[in-house]
Amino acid sequence: MSAVAGLRAGAPVRPLPGGRVFNFSAGPAALPLEVLEQLQHDLVDLHGSGIGILEHSHRGPVFDELLAQSHAAFLRVAGVGPEWAGLFIPGGATLQFGMLPMNFLPEGGHADYADTGLWATKAIADAKVVGKVNVTFDGKACRFDRTPREDEASPSRGAAYHHWCSNNTVDGTKWTVAPRAAEGAWLARDASSDIFAEPLDVRGHGFVYAAAQKNLGPSGMTMVLIRRDLLDRGCRKLPSMLRYDEYEKGESRPNTPNTFGIHVVGLVCRWIERQGGVQAMQRLAAERCGLILKAIDESGGFWRAHAERWCQSPINVLFRGPGEAIDAAFVAEAAAQGMDGLAGHRSTGGIRASMYNAMPVAGAKALADFMRDFARRRG
Ligand SMILES: Cc1ncc(COP(=O)(O)O)c(C=O)c1O
Repeated sequence: MSAVAGLRAGAPVRPLPGGRVFNFSAGPAALPLEVLEQLQHDLVDLHGSGIGILEHSHRGPVFDELLAQSHAAFLRVAGVGPEWAGLFIPGGATLQFGMLPMNFLPEGGHADYADTGLWATKAIADAKVVGKVNVTFDGKACRFDRTPREDEASPSRGAAYHHWCSNNTVDGTKWTVAPRAAEGAWLARDASSDIFAEPLDVRGHGFVYAAAQKNLGPSGMTMVLIRRDLLDRGCRKLPSMLRYDEYEKGESRPNTPNTFGIHVVGLVCRWIERQGGVQAMQRLAAERCGLILKAIDESGGFWRAHAERWCQSPINVLFRGPGEAIDAAFVAEAAAQGMDGLAGHRSTGGIRASMYNAMPVAGAKALADFMRDFARRRG
C-alpha cells in the first residue's frame, strides 16, 4: 500500500479544543454544528411530540408538517418559482445518472453530455446503458484540469437534453459559464458539490440534482429540482420508484422516505438562510478558497494547484507538493493538527481540501497557515 493509500485508510487525527476537527472531507462532509446539536435533541423528542425523528410515522401530522417545511425551505433557498418542483429522492446522485436518461432519453434519440471529470464520466457510462450519448466535451485529454470555455461544449441538433456537472469534486474545477442546450432542449445539471454554495441559476435548465452529503445533509438521498412541465413527459414504462411524477404526487414519499434526511436538509436550508443565504455562502467560499490559493502562490512552487486558475473550484481545491511521500506526510501532519480528510481522491492522489458551506473560514486559515509552515520546513 502506498503511503497516501495508507493514510486514506485512517490517519490519527487530534481533535481541536471542543472535540471537533476541521473536516475537509469531500463527502459526507462537515455539517453546521448548530444543526447537529438540534438533531441531537430531535433524535429523542421532535417538536415536543415525545417521539424522536427516527420513530415518527412518515404519514403522521408531525412529519406532514416537517416535510412541508423542508420542501418549502429547500425551494426558498433554491430561489426558484412555482414552475419548479423540489423532490427528495433516495439513492444518491448516482441513481440520477440512470434515472434521468431512463425518463428523458427517448428510444432512437440521443442526449448531450460534457465529460469534465470522474462523476461526469460515470453519468455518461450509465446514460449509455439506456441510450445514445453524444459527448460534447472530452476532458480526459487535459487530465480534467479545466472545464470547457464558453461555447466549447456545443450542443448537437436533436439532443433531448445536455448534461453537465457544474463543480467537479474530484479534480477541483468548475464551469465559469453554463453550456447551452440544443434548440427546444434543456440543461440537466449535477450540482452535487456546489448546490447552495452560490446563487442557483436555473436559466435554460429543466433538471438540477445534488447528492445531499456535501452541502445539505446525509448521504443516500438526493435533492432534485425538476421543471413541472417535464413531470408529464417522463417515460411511463418505469416502476414507480423511478418516475419523477410519482415523487411529486406523493410529496417525495411514494414509499417510506428517508424521514431523517428530509429533516436534516430542512434544518440546513434554514441555517443557510440565517447566515445570509446563498450570497453569503458564495462570499465565504471565495474567502476560504482565496486563503488556500494564496498559500499555494506564495510557496515558491512548492505547492502546485491541479486546476487551471480561471476555472478553479472555490469548493474543492486540489494541490500537490513535490512527490507522493511529501503529500502523505502533509496529510498525516495536518491530521495531527486537527485537520482531517485532506487526502486526494483515490483516482488522483495528491491533496484535496473540500470546503463546503459548513467549513468555517478559520478552518481554511488554519490549513493555509499549516501549508506555509510545512513548505518552509520541507522546501
Ligand atoms: C459531482 C458529484 N456527482 C455525483 C456524485 C455521486 O454521489 P452519490 O455517491 O451520492 O451517488 C458525487 C459524489 O461525490 C459528486 O461529487
